[in-house]
Amino acid sequence: MKKILITGGAGFIGSHVVRRFVNSYPNYEIVNLDKLTYAGNLANLTDIEHKPNYKFVKEDITDADAINQLFRNENFDAVIHLAAESHVDRSITDPTAFVMTNVIGTVNLLNAAREYWKGSYDQKRFYHVSTDEVYGALGEEGMFTETTAYDPHSPYSASKASSDHFVRAYHDTYGMDCVISNCSNNYGSHHFPEKLIPLAINNIKNNKPVPVYGKGENVRDWLWVEDHARAIDVIFHHAKTGDTYNIGGHNEWKNIDLINLLCNIMDQKLGREAGESAKLITYVTDRAGHDLRYAIDSTKLQKELDWVPSLQFEEGLAKTVDWYLQNEEWLNNVTSGNYQSYYEQQYSNK
Ligand code: NAD
Ligand code: DAU
Repeated sequence: MKKILITGGAGFIGSHVVRRFVNSYPNYEIVNLDKLTYAGNLANLTDIEHKPNYKFVKEDITDADAINQLFRNENFDAVIHLAAESHVDRSITDPTAFVMTNVIGTVNLLNAAREYWKGSYDQKRFYHVSTDEVYGALGEEGMFTETTAYDPHSPYSASKASSDHFVRAYHDTYGMDCVISNCSNNYGSHHFPEKLIPLAINNIKNNKPVPVYGKGENVRDWLWVEDHARAIDVIFHHAKTGDTYNIGGHNEWKNIDLINLLCNIMDQKLGREAGESAKLITYVTDRAGHDLRYAIDSTKLQKELDWVPSLQFEEGLAKTVDWYLQNEEWLNNVTSGNYQSYYEQQYSNK
């Protein structure tokens, strides 16, 4: 019997991880801790919320007392830590929120684990979910490996890099069993529509301009979110203590090519004439400090833990579009309120 604390489980990737663990491991107790910020949505988990091995706790990881109290009350065997401020553009506007949650929040969790797991570090595991953005930007050639030097550029990636360093420091200094994975861009269902793919789907659907930053030449390496959740499962269960794995789809796309592919899919799904959705493409001012290219070399994960991505991008993107078109209520709910004012502020001067 394992009791696992999953943080950020109401968010995009976290909800897929929670669903996978609750369904795949009925003998585990899954405690989902989430502050429910604008990005956290319990509607992402309605299919599993009544399962006997699932529990939700509304808490803020920046609140050290609350986190300590939780560790005191619950005898966790492991933490899978996903809670974070995750949007690069928001980090450019408000870096402090990223320091608070991504750095201080992570250290609060590490401190609680350090205190309440004393004497049994070899039986407990702290798994930190991180990003490829800590490695900085690539030129036309090369890929990020697990030994690429950290070189973050945005406040978001700087905060994630910092949290990674703290996790490694707690392993090296206190002997805690810590594991880190660094993943490339995810896509799939339940993705908050401030990020490129769901934002573009929503705007195309509503005949609104699709904002492409700069010349649209930046490259991202896209991975199906359920393949990320499966990688987390495999790494959580099989990684050696202190180890790091890169996770990625070997699936690089220039933003403009991706948006054109998406427009074609949307034309077909919405019964529009070929080329109609692409007319919505609008080039806007570039993101400050915009990283040119990310590409992950996941050879280590593939060779050591036998993980491979399961879906071709075209198939995954079509499935993603279907999900958004079939889940209008979810989309309408998350695009109201806070998101509306963020959207107006973010794109008003572009
Ligand atoms: P998300 O923004 O969709 O979800 C983040 C979740 O964390 C939300 O449910 C939010 O309510 C919660 N949260 C935020 N601040 C909190 C706090 N102070 N206390 C408790 N909960 C809080 O993010 P995501 O895209 O699902 O990313 C999840 C994790 O995976 C992050 O750590 C991110 O850095 C990492 N990651 C994301 C991607 C990607 O493509 N989205 C790729 C690699 C790694
Ligand atoms: O690489 C992993 C990272 O991927 C994660 O760690 C982050 O949490 C996640 O948000 C994502 O970061 P990106 O900045 O790459 O994702 P985003 O969807 O914001 O942008 C993808 C690309 O599209 C990027 O080059 C910026 C561009 N873009 C984005 C938006 C929102 C646009 O051209 N127009 C837009 O409106």
